[in-house]
Amino acid sequence: MAIIGLGYVGLPLAQQASRSGLSVAGFDVNAGMVASLNGGTSHIDDLTDGDISEMLSLGFSASTDESVLADADAIVICVPTPLSVDGEPDLGAVIAATTTIARQLRKGHLIVLESTTYPGTTDEVVRPILEKGGLVAGTDFHLAFSPERVDPGNPVYGIANTPKVVGGHTPSCTKVATDFYGRFIESVVPSKGTREAEMTKLLENTYRHINIALVNEMAQFCHEMDIDLWEVIRNAATKPFGFQAFYPGPGVGGHCIPIDPNYLSYKVRATLGRPFQFVELAQAINLQMPAYVVDRVADLLNDEGKALRGSTILLLGVTYKPNIADQRESPATPLAQLLLDKGATLLFHDPHVEAWSPNGVTVTPAHDLDESLRTADVSVLLQNHKDYDLTAIAATAKCLFDTKGATDDPSVARL
Ligand SMILES: NC(=O)c1ccc[n+]([C@@H]2O[C@H](COP(=O)([O-])OP(=O)(O)OC[C@H]3O[C@@H](n4cnc5c(N)ncnc54)[C@H](O)[C@@H]3O)[C@@H](O)[C@H]2O)c1
Repeated sequence: MAIIGLGYVGLPLAQQASRSGLSVAGFDVNAGMVASLNGGTSHIDDLTDGDISEMLSLGFSASTDESVLADADAIVICVPTPLSVDGEPDLGAVIAATTTIARQLRKGHLIVLESTTYPGTTDEVVRPILEKGGLVAGTDFHLAFSPERVDPGNPVYGIANTPKVVGGHTPSCTKVATDFYGRFIESVVPSKGTREAEMTKLLENTYRHINIALVNEMAQFCHEMDIDLWEVIRNAATKPFGFQAFYPGPGVGGHCIPIDPNYLSYKVRATLGRPFQFVELAQAINLQMPAYVVDRVADLLNDEGKALRGSTILLLGVTYKPNIADQRESPATPLAQLLLDKGATLLFHDPHVEAWSPNGVTVTPAHDLDESLRTADVSVLLQNHKDYDLTAIAATAKCLFDTKGATDDPSVARL
């Protein structure tokens, strides 16, 4: 098999397939990264250099030469699907990768798109590019969509034991793609078609996005009504059915939850001319959370007779989720921007991040954490990395604002 795009999704997939005995070739346009992978160096959190060496010993190799695609039976596309500057889906990488495959396409090939995208992409964007050379999907080659569900940093669920939904262009495409994934994934879930498989991923991520927005809005009025929402969620989570706990925070991060629902609302609007109201409301609430955190920090300073301007604020944990180094779409970035705009002096600390420049502004790292906690006017816990000793942080900080509900100390202000 061949994998196009050797990032957070493509590389763990290559590892699992290699370990299951498949012969795996990787193709990527990033020549520097390809060279370092072939030299045994990993660039993602979930794989160590040792994992890459193991993959190389199992026959994996990375390449910038597209001819590796022609030799593979199956080609899986794992390239990025970001938003454009005006907030619309940017399928540039998917189109480029598909155009590359089209040059190498032959009878019998299985092509699977895994990149998260709006329903209809496989059929309306990928298929016409592949069929330009005269081969027909479902007749000459097989075409399917299978959403990637990898959760970076999750110690329990990885590629092998997370069920894989697969929807083909025709029933026989579904069968071929299901058999393919069944060779290295424990549970494969055949789906009716590509659109249902595409939509599955968007339902999952929109569900998270909306429920996070729900508790983020609740956090704001519960604070004003003097209700401990963290306690409320703990109580509700004792219900053994019908409730799943979501927690408030300083905003949503990563490149899935803040981005994927936009793909769906774009498609609904473009096709039907009406908004996807739930997503738009959730977007507005979640985007406003960094500003809410700034307001709460300003209130804490105000209690001490201080202003944001001239105060030192220490940000603890600037990645988008705990225990990984990925900073993509982290709410720490807009938060830092807002604090700087108000004239605050910023420091940051993160065991996973050595240097941090949100929006191009370099923020000074707090090398001596205890000293910085003692001197900063407010320390804001943004990410509860497991390396943090929260009892010690709460005891040392001059003033701690905990946006993750991670501390029990009654003297600590929580979101
Ligand atoms: N990272 C996650 O947790 C996650 C989870 C589920 C789904 N996804 C989805 O999976 C897809 C890939 O995400 P990722 O996090 O792996 O991205 P990434 O940025 O980590 O990796 C993508 C790789 O694709 C390469 N690439 C870009 N254009 C290419 C082209 N034309 N030909 C060959 N290679 C090309 C890039 O150089 C990069 O190495 C996205 O659609 C994303 O939304 C990601």
